[in-house]
Amino acid sequence: MKSPREKSQGWNITEAERAVYRNRSQASSAAKAKALRGEGPKPIHPINVPKLHPEDLMLQLPSHGLRSLSLFSGGGGLDLGFDRAGFTHVASYDILPDAGKTLTQNRRHWRVFSGEPGDVTHIDWRSYRGLVDVIHGGPPCQPFSVAGHQKGKADRRDMFPEFVRAVLEIQPLAFVAENVTALLGKKFSSYVQEEIEKPLSPTYRLIKFILSAPDFGIPQIRNRVFFVGFKTDKIAAKYQPPQPTHHWKKEEGSSIRQAIQLDLFSPGERSQLPRCMGIREALGLPDLGFDALAPTIRSGLTGPRHTTSVLSSVSAQKNWEKLQIWPNGVAANREQAHLFVAKNGHFRLSVADCAMIQGFPEFWIIEGAVYMALGQIGNAVPPPLAYRIAASIYKALS
Ligand SMILES: C[S@@+](CC[C@H](N)C(=O)[O-])C[C@H]1O[C@@H](n2cnc3c(N)ncnc32)[C@H](O)[C@@H]1O
Repeated sequence: MKSPREKSQGWNITEAERAVYRNRSQASSAAKAKALRGEGPKPIHPINVPKLHPEDLMLQLPSHGLRSLSLFSGGGGLDLGFDRAGFTHVASYDILPDAGKTLTQNRRHWRVFSGEPGDVTHIDWRSYRGLVDVIHGGPPCQPFSVAGHQKGKADRRDMFPEFVRAVLEIQPLAFVAENVTALLGKKFSSYVQEEIEKPLSPTYRLIKFILSAPDFGIPQIRNRVFFVGFKTDKIAAKYQPPQPTHHWKKEEGSSIRQAIQLDLFSPGERSQLPRCMGIREALGLPDLGFDALAPTIRSGLTGPRHTTSVLSSVSAQKNWEKLQIWPNGVAANREQAHLFVAKNGHFRLSVADCAMIQGFPEFWIIEGAVYMALGQIGNAVPPPLAYRIAASIYKALS
């Protein structure tokens, strides 16, 4: 029997189920075309003006000369964070052509290898030795993700050994690898030991920790594990993982304004850090007297390949419903989201909204069709998180 997650992910489905999905999708395309011609139901929600500007969470730091190389760059979450933290970009590699387009579109002067030339399995990294101070990368998470089959090493998409090979061939001062927290679970403890720690520990001091997106002002439930390595014990001893810059307090039953006042009146009980916005507030939606973090948005390109939904689980659906936000059929832009009224009348998300939920600033253009843009967004390290990691590494190295 299929688990609810399998059902929600849409894989392992029968032909009959596939036909139901196909019919539903065709009906939805027809309704969308009608709405975009102005012949659909009257729009309910005005075009939203987001209140959160992720660039404010990562003020541009001056260039300090440390050089970073990006593997598995995707839509550039880590790349943008390192860029904002003052690192000098050496090159980016990703097998996905649209990821290459995104990076080039946003940073014309970067050296970007995508498609076949971006396939890290074919690169001899030794020519980069002496030219790179930090390597960063998020090898595909599907081999470890609870949303997948968790085959680890047996999954041909497992690219951690390639990341390790690049580190050993280049020998940078430091590296950062990011992945899903499942990698720290019991199931993968021997994987981590054999594939990551054993080959790297003779040359690098390894530090692992988990960071949570709302601790850095990003209004989404999202935890990720980071493996940071330093070539010398002295630098490793100096290293401090990023400390939270924001706090999130559940505010059920109280309006956002009341919650702020509560903060003012009971400072002892609350963190002194700035408050992370709830998702409705961040999107610029009216106050319902209730706000929450967005459920984790799905990591791109798992499940059915062309999905335009950011739904990651059955429980997430309930939470989106409470928030009166529709996480399926994400629109290409805010104008289209406004015109194409969701069946239940809830606010429809656009690609720009999803990018913001993942911490991308509005100026960072994500290339490709909607499903492909969502894939790059969902796969990304939220740039403000990447920025804090980059800054913490700079601090240790300087
Ligand atoms: C989890 S995403 C990385 C996201 C990125 N770290 C960010 O912050 O935006 C993993 C990426 O690895 C890429 N990838 C998978 N196999 C690859 C390969 N053999 N060579 C290069 N890139 C690959 C995928 O296309 C995907 O964009």
